[in-house]
Amino acid sequence: MSENLKELYQIQRVLNDTGYHDISRISKEIQDYCNEKAISPTLVLKRIETGEPWDYIRGESEFYGNKFLLNKRTLIPRPETEQMVDIAISFLEENPNYKNVIDVGTGSGCIIISIAKVLKDKKEINLCGIDIDKQALSIAKENAVLHKINEKVTFLKGNLLKATELKDGTLIIANLPYIPKKIYKKLDRSVLNFEPKRALLGGKDGLKYYKELISQVEKACKKDISLDITLLIEIEPSTLEDLRMVLGNYETDIIKDSRNHNRFVLIRLS
Ligand SMILES: C[S@@+](CC[C@H](N)C(=O)[O-])C[C@H]1O[C@@H](n2cnc3c(N)ncnc32)[C@H](O)[C@@H]1O
Repeated sequence: MSENLKELYQIQRVLNDTGYHDISRISKEIQDYCNEKAISPTLVLKRIETGEPWDYIRGESEFYGNKFLLNKRTLIPRPETEQMVDIAISFLEENPNYKNVIDVGTGSGCIIISIAKVLKDKKEINLCGIDIDKQALSIAKENAVLHKINEKVTFLKGNLLKATELKDGTLIIANLPYIPKKIYKKLDRSVLNFEPKRALLGGKDGLKYYKELISQVEKACKKDISLDITLLIEIEPSTLEDLRMVLGNYETDIIKDSRNHNRFVLIRLS
C-alpha cells in the first residue's frame, strides 16, 4: 500500500472515531491542507481528536456555495441558515419598497455577503452587517473583501441596532444566539469547547436577544409611525410558543427548514 493511501486511511479512521459524517470529503481536504502547508497530518489529527472542528483548524467554511474565513470568535455557519438568504431574496423581490437590509449578529458575514453577491447589480439596495464582537467583525470585513463586495456592505460594531438609525423599508435579518440554557449545556463537546458561547447562548429561554431586538424596533416605530420594518429571524424550534407570546398581534409567517422544523419567522413590525 502506498504511503499516501496509508495516510488517508489513518485520517479516515480518526474522523470516524471522532464522529464525523462526510469522511471522504474531509479526509481529502485534510490531506490537501497538510500537503499545502507541508505539515504532518498527525498534527491536525491530534487537534481533531480533542473535538476541535475541522473548519476552525483550516480557518474557513462553506456557506451558500461560497468560502468564508473563520476565526475563534465566529460561529461555523450552519447549512440550515442558508435558507435565510433565499427567504430574504424572495422577500426583497416581492417588496420592492424595501431598499435596506441589516444583518444583526453577522458573525463571519456569511448571510449579508451571500445576499450582496446575489444582489450585486441592484445598486439601490443598502446592505449592513452588525456584530457586538470586534474580532468577528474583522473577519466579516475580510470576507467582504474576499468576495469583492466590500464597497456594497457596511459593517458596524454595536449592541443589536443601537449603532444605527432605522430607515423606512428595512428588512432586518437576525440569526442571534438562540439556544436556551438547558439545551446549551447538552450540546456536543466540540461546540461547547470550541464555538463562542456569545454566538450561541440565548439566555434562559433562548429569546433574550430577540426580545431586546423587537423592543428596539418597536421604540423606533413609535418615534416614527411611518416606518415599514420586517424582521426575519432564525430560532430554536422549541422556543416558538414562547416567541408567539412576545409577538402578540404582529403579522407573522412561520417557515420550516428542510427537516420540517419551525426554524424561521418573518415578522411585519410596522
Ligand atoms: C448565531 S451567531 C450567527 C453568526 C452568523 N450570522 C451566522 O449565521 O453564521 C450570532 C452572532 O451574534 C453576535 N451577537 C451576540 N450578541 C449580540 C448583540 N447584542 N448585538 C449584536 N451582535 C450580537 C455574536 O457575536 C455572533 O456573531
